[in-house]
Order: sequence, then C-alpha cells, then structure tokens
Amino acid sequence: MPMFPSDFADLLTPKGLRILKGQDEKVCGALLRVPPQRFISLTGVVDAKKAAACRDALEEELLGTLTQMDDPIPPESLLGMTENYSELLPKAVRVRTALLGSRRSRSWRAAERVGLTAMLRSESFGAFAAAVSGRALRRNWGIQALCYGPGDYTGPHNDHHPEDLEARDGYVDMHLTLATPAVAHQWLVYAKGGHFSEIASVNTLGGMTVYRLPFWHYTTPLVARPGAQDAARRWVLLGTFLDAPQEHRRSTALAPPQQGRQVSGGLGRKGR
Ligand SMILES: [Fe+2]
Repeated sequence: MPMFPSDFADLLTPKGLRILKGQDEKVCGALLRVPPQRFISLTGVVDAKKAAACRDALEEELLGTLTQMDDPIPPESLLGMTENYSELLPKAVRVRTALLGSRRSRSWRAAERVGLTAMLRSESFGAFAAAVSGRALRRNWGIQALCYGPGDYTGPHNDHHPEDLEARDGYVDMHLTLATPAVAHQWLVYAKGGHFSEIASVNTLGGMTVYRLPFWHYTTPLVARPGAQDAARRWVLLGTFLDAPQEHRRSTALAPPQQGRQVSGGLGRKGR
C-alpha cells in the first residue's frame, strides 16, 4: 500500500528543503512583503514521484470514505430580488471532503492507515507554512482533505472570520495539491486592488499554495480531459494556521527560520 511519509520534509526536493531552512530569499517571508502579497504558488518543491505515491494512497484508501459538500446558490438570491442590481451571492460550493476531525469517521481511519494525519501534523508541515508566510504560527493547526471532481468548484468568498478573536486579523492557509493526470484544468482566481484580476493554475501534482487570508477568491470548476471524467480528481491537503500571540512560548508556536535564529531563551520574538 502506498503511504505518506510521517514527516512532510521527506516529500521535499532540495528547493523545498532550502525554503524550510529559510534559505530562499524570494520565497521565505513572501506573504509579509510590501506591497502586500496575499498568495503564493510554489512548484518544484515537492518531489513528483513521492507526490504521485501519496495521491495513489488517497485514491485507494480515502476515495470511498468522502462526504459530499453541496451548498448551491440559494434560489431566493435570484427570485427573491426586488431591486435591480441588488444581487448578493453567498458562498456556493460543491466538493467532497474527508472528515478528519472525528476519530470515529471512516475517513479518519483511512487517513491514519495511509499516514496522512501524521504527515499533516508533522512539525515540518507547520514550519514550511511559517517559513513562507514569514510569521510565527501556533502549533495545533487545523487539517482537512478535499477532493474536487469534474464540475466541482468553490464560488467567490473571502474566508474572513470577524467573529473569531484569533482569526479576525488574518490567518494562514497552506494547501498541497495532488491532481490525477486526467484533470485538464482548474484555476484559482483572486482579487488584487479590488478586482478579480489574478489567476493561477491549481492543476498540479505536488504544488504548494500559501494564503494570507482573508481575501476574495474562487476556484473554477474542475474540467476533465476528454473521455477521462471518471479518473479526474484534484486532492487538496490543507493546514489552517493561526498567528502565534505576540509573546509566545516556543513550545506553543513555530517561528519562521529567519526569526528562529535570533531567538534565545524560552520566549520567542514578537509575532508579527
Ligand atoms: Fe477559500
């Protein structure tokens, strides 16, 4: 049975390892730069062969355990409108998800079996997010696995959580994408300067994307190659990371490597 390495670092190429160690000036701290950059897409950081083995593990063990998420456009957003040009679109989405939060779920058991949960919880997974985002991040991050099939998408939304004290000033998401060769395309479209002007392909095998949320974005419907509908899937493995408090103990947070070198004693430097 194909398996995930228990340590995320074991998936990385030499380029990926340099980022993890804080040695890639272009990538490390990319989401702290001025003018603000909210999103970065990295290829060539995860070994393609190892990524294919991980994808095959998901295809074999997790595919049959997924739960459908289906939140369509509410009909009243169209038919309930009484004023011209007053349309408001809530987040619409169709995707399958693995319930990794409940130990009793079939997905959790399958994820344990293939080593997925161990890898997503490994220190180097969080350390990679800290290195790219340039921020000290809390340990105990959230994990999730999604699977987009043909026609699956996520409509425009911003992932803002103004009611959550710990997330309302922003937080970091990191995604590892594992697509099958049957996918023709899928895109992330995001806003810059108030317009949906930016677009990046998310049809990758081992591509890493890192987000400083909130910002407006959507994921276009996955399109399969002709005649390959049944095999077209894009797996997304996610970590959601809260900023570490300004004064934090090193045991509760992961500092980016640039900061880590300057830390002495039990308390880390200020988070940013
Ligand atoms: Fe999102």
